[in-house]
Amino acid sequence: MNSERTWWKNAVVYQVYPQSFDDSDGDGVGDIPGIIDRLDYLADLGVDVVWLNPVYESPHHDDGYDVRDYRAVRDEYGDIAEWERLLDGLHDRGIRLVMDFVPNHTSDEHPWFRASRTDPDGEYGDYYIWRPGDPATDATDTPGPADRAPPNDWQSYFGGPAWTWDATRGAYYLHLFDEHQPDLDWTNPDVREGIYDRMNWWLEKGIDGFRLDVVNLISKPEGLPDSDSDGDTTGLSQCVEGPRLDEYLAEMREATFGRYDAVAIGETPDITLEEARHHTGPDGPLDMVLHFEHMGLDSDDEDGWWSVREWDLTELKRVVDRWQTGLGDGWHGVYLGNHDQPRIVSRFGDDGGYRRESATMLATLLLTLRGTPFVHQGDELGMTNYPFEAREELADAGTLGRIDEAVAAGRIDGFDDAREIVRYRTRDNARTPMQWDATEHAGFTTGEPWLPVNPDHETVNVERERGDPDSVLAYYRRLVALRGETPALVSGEYEPVLPDDESAFAYRRTLDGDRLLVLLNFDDGETTVDLSLDGVTRLVGNYDAPADRTVLRPYEARLYRLQE
Ligand code: NOJ
Repeated sequence: MNSERTWWKNAVVYQVYPQSFDDSDGDGVGDIPGIIDRLDYLADLGVDVVWLNPVYESPHHDDGYDVRDYRAVRDEYGDIAEWERLLDGLHDRGIRLVMDFVPNHTSDEHPWFRASRTDPDGEYGDYYIWRPGDPATDATDTPGPADRAPPNDWQSYFGGPAWTWDATRGAYYLHLFDEHQPDLDWTNPDVREGIYDRMNWWLEKGIDGFRLDVVNLISKPEGLPDSDSDGDTTGLSQCVEGPRLDEYLAEMREATFGRYDAVAIGETPDITLEEARHHTGPDGPLDMVLHFEHMGLDSDDEDGWWSVREWDLTELKRVVDRWQTGLGDGWHGVYLGNHDQPRIVSRFGDDGGYRRESATMLATLLLTLRGTPFVHQGDELGMTNYPFEAREELADAGTLGRIDEAVAAGRIDGFDDAREIVRYRTRDNARTPMQWDATEHAGFTTGEPWLPVNPDHETVNVERERGDPDSVLAYYRRLVALRGETPALVSGEYEPVLPDDESAFAYRRTLDGDRLLVLLNFDDGETTVDLSLDGVTRLVGNYDAPADRTVLRPYEARLYRLQE
């Protein structure tokens, strides 16, 4: 990290999920001209950076995280000329562009993989992680040929074994995610160089950085041993923070973004606070990481995705407090949701009667913490989870893979048995089309949308909220602006207040004598806080000024400036 180049610390990042943002040509799929049409919306919101989910050429088994060509734009989205217009349009408005880059795996349709499977002795033969497999002990149980079992017990993050037998090459290949996403072999210097070349291709075009997909998984453990005894058999968990990760990240920085004024954002599942400090501290190769600790509060370890555990505010506070106070010279992105998580108001707030209040309360949390806030498209409207009724309404490989695996294992009979958990957890909740207006397809498309539009678009939409000073959108706009003019919110010290309160989340942010206090009520009833609140100035809040400052109304949020 270069501490002098810190524009990204002061930034608010807005995540654009291109497939669902705006469709300009009526094919039901969002596209780049659609995003261009909405640039003034983004400028008006006041965000500083757009993180664009993958727009590369891809068969889309995992919504673009299966890249077929890193140097081309997916046809449905447009072409390079249009992408360049997007970059210029953003830059003209003072907004930077961060591209999503996928260094851990490619599509199985990438030319590297095609060559690797057909010509093991050729140039690309060692680009992926191929193994002959072990002599099978139980032939009926093997996904490969009768006499070869997968090389280890790792499971794919999306369900099923992390190894697929390739009949052409006569070997297993590793895929920590979908079978169409083979993992690259980073021990091969040619792979690394190939990836760096492709990253530089975009940097040369003038982008402002990368969000690096699962970048802490690129180094695999020596010998690919069976999973640890703690019961977690996903390959993902086995590959976090592998033995050569430091070396690869340093090399990547040196070869690519380190040469530009570009931010490097690591998406880092299972990362610990210590590892985050290490990677983003003064000598670290990354500028910030996205950790996952708060994303696991509503599931239990054993059943993971399939379990819903009632989450607890004191636990959330403990996680936030630890990361807020413990990162030292390191830095992280702050997020509550993204395209891999359910909608934040449905998960951490109330998507019924207190939707507006809880969505604005969560906005206050997101935009007043230390770190770089990430707003996922639609959260600024208070968009909610989708009421999925049928399997056909889903598109996410992760959700479908898990359902199929559970059916195959006899744990469930079909979608009906999974409906409740799918509604709660599927990533498709955050991928439904952006809601621009109250018309049939929410102004997203004139065609058939690729994923259904949430029926609540009749009330939750940009057009309606733009005209309402009390809307979630208006509140986001106000807070984004306030953050921009309040350095204490960006880099001020964080100090927890009332850590054991089960309803109120309170903290102070302090910088050079500027002292701020954030009060958030996570409850749908009133909460009284035991604090002296004399002589404070209210900077923002999601209710009118209170009669009694110590009483927080349902999901109330207030930001105060304290007297010197
Ligand atoms: C993380 C991405 O955010 C997610 O959408 C994707 O499925 C996996 N990485 C695999 O690339």
